[in-house]
Amino acid sequence: MYKLDQNETPLFDALMEYVNRETIPFHVPGHKKGIGIDEEFKNFIGQNPFKIDVTVFKLVDSLHHPTGPIKKAQKLAADAYGSDAAFFSIHGTSGAIQAMIMSVVSAGDKIIIPRNVHKSVTAGIILSGAIPVYMQPALDKNVGIAHGVTPETVERTLKENPDAKAVLVINPTYYGVATDLKKIADIVHSYDIPLIVDEAHGPHLGFNDKLPVSAMEAGADICAQSTHKIIGALTQCSLLQVRSERVDINRVQQILSLLQTTSPSYILMASLDCARRQIALNGEELLDKTIELANYARSEINKIPGFYCFGEEILGNEGVYALDPTKITITCRDLGITGYDLDMILSSKYHIQMELSDLYNVLAVGSFGDTKESIDALLVALKEISEEYYGNDNKKSDFIDMPAIPKLLKLPREAFNSAKTRVALKDSIGEVSAEFLMAYPPGIPVLCPGEEITQEIVDYVQKLKDTGLYVQGTEDPEVENIKVVR
Ligand SMILES: Cc1ncc(COP(=O)(O)O)c(C=O)c1O
Repeated sequence: MYKLDQNETPLFDALMEYVNRETIPFHVPGHKKGIGIDEEFKNFIGQNPFKIDVTVFKLVDSLHHPTGPIKKAQKLAADAYGSDAAFFSIHGTSGAIQAMIMSVVSAGDKIIIPRNVHKSVTAGIILSGAIPVYMQPALDKNVGIAHGVTPETVERTLKENPDAKAVLVINPTYYGVATDLKKIADIVHSYDIPLIVDEAHGPHLGFNDKLPVSAMEAGADICAQSTHKIIGALTQCSLLQVRSERVDINRVQQILSLLQTTSPSYILMASLDCARRQIALNGEELLDKTIELANYARSEINKIPGFYCFGEEILGNEGVYALDPTKITITCRDLGITGYDLDMILSSKYHIQMELSDLYNVLAVGSFGDTKESIDALLVALKEISEEYYGNDNKKSDFIDMPAIPKLLKLPREAFNSAKTRVALKDSIGEVSAEFLMAYPPGIPVLCPGEEITQEIVDYVQKLKDTGLYVQGTEDPEVENIKVVR
């Protein structure tokens, strides 16, 4: 099924050759293979990482002008994922997302995006000067989270904005919920514009049939994948996958060069090269084990009073087309504590660190690194917590319907670059917001920079506060004041 030999790791091999040659270094980094490193740090880390912490020279190639092992390693990554070209990002998926956006839209172009995008999308929009057109994602009021956008929402938004130059979707969500990406790709392509996918949480999707379809399989034109989040690359490593029909591959390379450091870490890039080999050759089997453990955790958690862990029963709900079972969302709403409380109890009392928490949930990320022992330790902790808290009559308030998306009065780039004034929120009606304002649940912005503050929004914020729900995002933690652009 692969065209290239996925056993190869050209960049890692080049680095091994450098090490085996016992090269004398007169290049940066100045620690010179670890000789100049602080002793305590070196004793902890060991010697080997420093031996491959090198800089750009012919043997190990250049990320910005690849002609040797990096070029080959990126080709292997494209082959593994079924794209026309793959690029290494050592600025995380954040860097890859900024590059994706700047590759497809320029100043004044419309780009259609979900309302609950990661801040790197906003950064890409500020940097490119594009005009965002927002889509509201589907909401699950029971667990208080946002799912994907539906094909119907994409279709309607495109009908209202036929001049849009690109559509971006997040798939799957942080919580592992996938939308009908194939259908969305068809709709977007019927306007002959690119579909770009924030696949931060899906670099493993294409390697096991029990997982939702990947962006490249669904026909997306470009996607960014956090290989460091789910598969075995080191933190900061991501991949950008491109199809050439609607996206100019040379422009993507140029933009990445504009955004990324001229001193990329070869330790990170080598980990990416090897992580690609691992997922390409052993992904199916490793993911089978990961899925089995995560499903075991899910079914056991659902037996503990006060906890709920959603699974296949929510398939078919709005925005829920498929599920990534490796994500374990533990809802503790019926236990009378918040997800934030549960996160703190697990970390301080049991030394178990979750990925994230929100008002009703904590999220456990499943991966090849899980063991039955670590899952069992989590189950023991949850059982004890349930015994302590279940039955306390402290149920959290219900979700409150959000106000309409307000009018965009200034482009995000203009709002970002303008002088800002702080005013009382109650006196800000009609002003242009310079800040984000997020409501929890479901963690979707009520206001983005450049948007008009309305009476409806001010009333909604008050209602959230009165019912003990959360609102945050402004510099003022109490959200009594907001910065505006005049
Ligand atoms: C949906 C989404 N997109 C993008 C990112 C950015 O990824 P990275 O941390 O690799 O920069 C994240 C990070 O959590 C994310 O959740």
